[in-house]
Amino acid sequence: MDNFLCFLWLVILLLDLFITKSMSAFVPTSRYYQGSVIIGNKIYFLGGIDKTGTGTNNIFYLDVSSPFYSVNPKWTDLTSVAPIPVNSAFAPSCVGGSNKDTIFLFEHHRTNNDNSTSLVTFAFDSTTQKWSAPTTSGAIPQTRQDMRAVVDNNGNIYINGGFEPSITQKSYNSTFILNSLSLSWTNGPNAPIIRSAYTATLLSSGLILYIGGTNDDPSPEINMNSISVYNTNIGTWSLMNAIGDVIAPRQSHSAVLNKNGFIVIYGGAANNYTVAPNPALATLDTNSMPYKWSAKQFNSVYAPPPLAYHSAQIFGDYMFIAFGVSLINAKFDLATAPNNNIFILDTSNYTWVSSIINVNVNSSFVGPPNPNPTTSTSSTPAGNNSSPITIPLIAGLGSLLGAFIIIASIIGIVFCCRKKKRQHYYATAGTNTRI
Ligand SMILES: *[C@@H]1O[C@H](CO)[C@@H](O)[C@H](O)[C@H]1NC(C)=O
Ligand SMILES: *[C@@H]1O[C@H](CO)[C@@H](O)[C@H](O)[C@H]1NC(C)=O
Ligand SMILES: *[C@@H]1O[C@H](CO)[C@@H](O)[C@H](O)[C@H]1NC(C)=O
Ligand SMILES: *[C@@H]1O[C@H](CO)[C@@H](O)[C@H](O)[C@H]1NC(C)=O
Ligand SMILES: *[C@@H]1O[C@H](CO)[C@@H](O)[C@H](O)[C@H]1NC(C)=O
Ligand SMILES: *[C@@H]1O[C@H](CO)[C@@H](O)[C@H](O)[C@H]1NC(C)=O
Repeated sequence: MDNFLCFLWLVILLLDLFITKSMSAFVPTSRYYQGSVIIGNKIYFLGGIDKTGTGTNNIFYLDVSSPFYSVNPKWTDLTSVAPIPVNSAFAPSCVGGSNKDTIFLFEHHRTNNDNSTSLVTFAFDSTTQKWSAPTTSGAIPQTRQDMRAVVDNNGNIYINGGFEPSITQKSYNSTFILNSLSLSWTNGPNAPIIRSAYTATLLSSGLILYIGGTNDDPSPEINMNSISVYNTNIGTWSLMNAIGDVIAPRQSHSAVLNKNGFIVIYGGAANNYTVAPNPALATLDTNSMPYKWSAKQFNSVYAPPPLAYHSAQIFGDYMFIAFGVSLINAKFDLATAPNNNIFILDTSNYTWVSSIINVNVNSSFVGPPNPNPTTSTSSTPAGNNSSPITIPLIAGLGSLLGAFIIIASIIGIVFCCRKKKRQHYYATAGTNTRI
């Protein structure tokens, strides 16, 4: 009887394995210019342009707690329970609210059939998993897109510039500040440079650095040394001329700040989205005055291809790069070159990795061997990964079937443990007879 149960358990386990391999849990589809925020160990993704060329109402998150394997990332869909109230793309997002657990999304329309002339604020409570469209007061901004939102420690959200998509179709230099607790808007002074499609990074000193982007869509791109700096402590702008390595201008790149005060930028596009600027990876040292650029070369099977319109978040030392599009035939195009892989950069030493065994405040990474050694590991030139490894984003079990199998497995384990105990009992009783 016990043998039979154990056999049954084994069969269930094998079935489990088979189903895990053959059935995919939620896997997000390709997209670009999605919103992205990080709360705890969850990177949330919001909307983005999909294959049909329109924004989506998708919201889902990636659990980046350790161990993390880029081959089998832990996605969770929330669209089925809490879709974004409108189809969204090119919309800035950040975390705010008194508990720092509310995602704010700033859209240019209130419903899918409306072009709002003022910016529409949507809020997602990540605890209750519910969206709202809170009424905001004060100097409500005009509608814009293709800009970034940054939050300070007091819950003030800063938005600069952006592109007006319907009437003027121009980029701007205005500064909008939303107090995410009182939900009231104020204007800041105009920035020294008109920008959209830039990155914005808050330093611990309270300065926000606006890097790259464009004066007007689709070109030209802004000199990477011309960094607009907003001081959130006193509400003033200044212009910093960075020094160091030559970093080609770009827009729709990504940036994160690491623990050592280096802004790490990746990717982006230039010349009307026909060129991947060099170097793909660079750092800006904000400890030195003036700030100093360093080009980072790399040669790794785990490195991303050139990407634009992607998103990046940092967790511990690790920069997580997701979605966006790559460059094929001088075109960043979702139809031909979507990025469906997660790429991870250890920003303590600028090494691309495929997995993270342990993240703590001080970071420790253990790099396992290449899980997919079939593709070209050799001499990939820096910034040009012509054949990146393709990691299928196929994850775990379907929830219902998975739950059933897990329960069945537990029953199996319980029976087998029982059997083991009995064996043990018999053994200590002086018999080696196995039943
Ligand atoms: C909104 O503006 C876009 C152009 O940006 C236009 O194609 C669309 O038809 C407009 N929608 C409505 C409902 O006016
Ligand atoms: C900022 O925008 C205002 C209004 O559009 C404009 O008058 C001003 O010249 C702009 N400043 C810069 C530096 O472009
Ligand atoms: C940029 O490229 C698009 C198509 O990809 C084209 O329609 C547009 O005219 C180009 N703009 C410029 C300024 O070259
Ligand atoms: C982490 O770093 C801090 C300061 O850099 C140090 O004091 C602490 O001992 C480190 N902890 C571990 C576990 O290495
Ligand atoms: C990068 O740093 C991590 C953590 O300090 C370390 O484990 C890893 O070996 C380093 N990688 C390289 C290539 O030096
Ligand atoms: C990447 O490398 C391949 C082969 O070395 C080359 O043919 C291609 O032009 C390169 N692409 C870029 C964008 O540099």
